[in-house]
Amino acid sequence: MQAEFQAGPLLSNHIDLQSMNTLALPAKAAFYLKVTEPNILPTLSDVSAPRFVLGGGSNLVLTGNFDGLILHMDIPGKQLIGEDSEAWYVEAGAGENWHQFVQWTLANGLPGLENLSLIPGTVGASPIQNIGAYGLELSDFFHLAKAWDFDTRQWVEFDRKACRFAYRDSLFKQEGWHLTGRIVITQVVFRIPKHWEPKADYADVAKQLETNQITEPSAQEIANAVMSIRQHKLPDPAITPNAGSFFQNPVLGPTQAATLLKQYPSMPHYPQADGRVKLAAGWLIEQAGWKGKSIGPVGMYRQQALVLVNHGQGNGRDVLKTMSAVQQAVLSQFQVKLQPEPVFVP
Ligand code: EPU
Repeated sequence: MQAEFQAGPLLSNHIDLQSMNTLALPAKAAFYLKVTEPNILPTLSDVSAPRFVLGGGSNLVLTGNFDGLILHMDIPGKQLIGEDSEAWYVEAGAGENWHQFVQWTLANGLPGLENLSLIPGTVGASPIQNIGAYGLELSDFFHLAKAWDFDTRQWVEFDRKACRFAYRDSLFKQEGWHLTGRIVITQVVFRIPKHWEPKADYADVAKQLETNQITEPSAQEIANAVMSIRQHKLPDPAITPNAGSFFQNPVLGPTQAATLLKQYPSMPHYPQADGRVKLAAGWLIEQAGWKGKSIGPVGMYRQQALVLVNHGQGNGRDVLKTMSAVQQAVLSQFQVKLQPEPVFVP
C-alpha cells in the first residue's frame, strides 16, 4: 500500500477515526485524505486499495481498523443556482452540515426542508440512505447529484429517477457504492417547490405545535418544533455517542402483520400503499425488554429504544454484540428480523 499513494501534504497515514464517528468507536485508517474540492478526486491515480467515503460519520459502525483510504468529504458551498415557474434550485457541497444547510434555506426564504431539521450528517450523505423524518424524505426535494466515478474516471450526474429512492434506500446503497467508494458525491442540487404548505400532520409535530399554541405554523416554527422533539428524544452524540436510529422500521407482508396485530392490538403500525405494513422497531425493542438495557458499554437508549448508545469505551465488537442480542430478542418474541440502519466498516 505504501507504494500506491504518494503521501502529499493532504494525505495522512494511520489516522485515528474516533472523533470522526458519532458512536465514538476507536479505529485507525491506513490512509486519510480531506476532500476540500471536487477536483482533488481525478488527481488520485488508480487505487486498488479499499476506499471509504466519510461524511459526518453519523451513520457508521467502525468494526475495526480500516486498511485503506478514507476520503473525508469537506466540499463547502451553498447557493441558489436557478429557478423556474414552479421551483427553486439550490446546490450544496457534499461536506456541508445537513442541519446548517436546512437552516440556511429557511433563512433565505426557501421553505420546504424544515421537517428534516437536526438530522445529523452531511449533504453528500443525505441521498445515500434517503434521509427522512416527520413525514418527509430527501427524495421529495432531490433534483440531482454530481459525482466522481472512480471506475470510469468520469464526472457523472444522477437525477431523481436514476437514484431509485425508497425508504432509507437508494441506488447508491443497492449497488453497494457506499461500501466500495466507487461513486463519490461532490454536490447535490435540491428542487424546492415555490408552493409551500406546512407538513404538520405527523403526531409528534402536531402535538408540539399545539403545546406552543401555534395554529398556522411558519416553516421556521415547524423547524423549531422538530428541533425540540429531536432534542428531547434523541441523545446528543457529543454527550452520549450514538448513530441515530440503529434499526430500520421493518415492513411486513399483510398476513404476518395481521397475525401479530391480533396478538398485540396496541402495536403501532403504518399501512403502506402497496398493502404491506410498517412496524415501529423502537416499540418492538421496548416490548422485548431492551429499552435502557446494555451489554457492557453499549446499550439501547432509555428514552428511545431504537437508538443504540455507547456509554463509555465501547468498540465495534461491543456494538455487534448488543446488536445481535437485540435482534435475537425481537426475533424470538415477534418473528421479525430487524435490519441495522448504519453502514459497517470494514
Ligand atoms: N416507540 C416505542 N418505544 C420506543 C420508541 C418508539 O414504543 O422506545 C413507538 C412510539 O411510541 C411510536 C412509534 O414507536 O408509536 C414510532 O416512534 P417515532 O415516531 O419516535 O419514530 P421512529 O419510528 O422511532 C423514525 C425514524 C427517525 C425519525 C422519526 C421521526 C426510522 C428507522 N427512524 O423513528 O429517524 O426521526 O421516525 O420521523 O425510520 C434516523 O433515521 O436516524 C432517525 C432518527
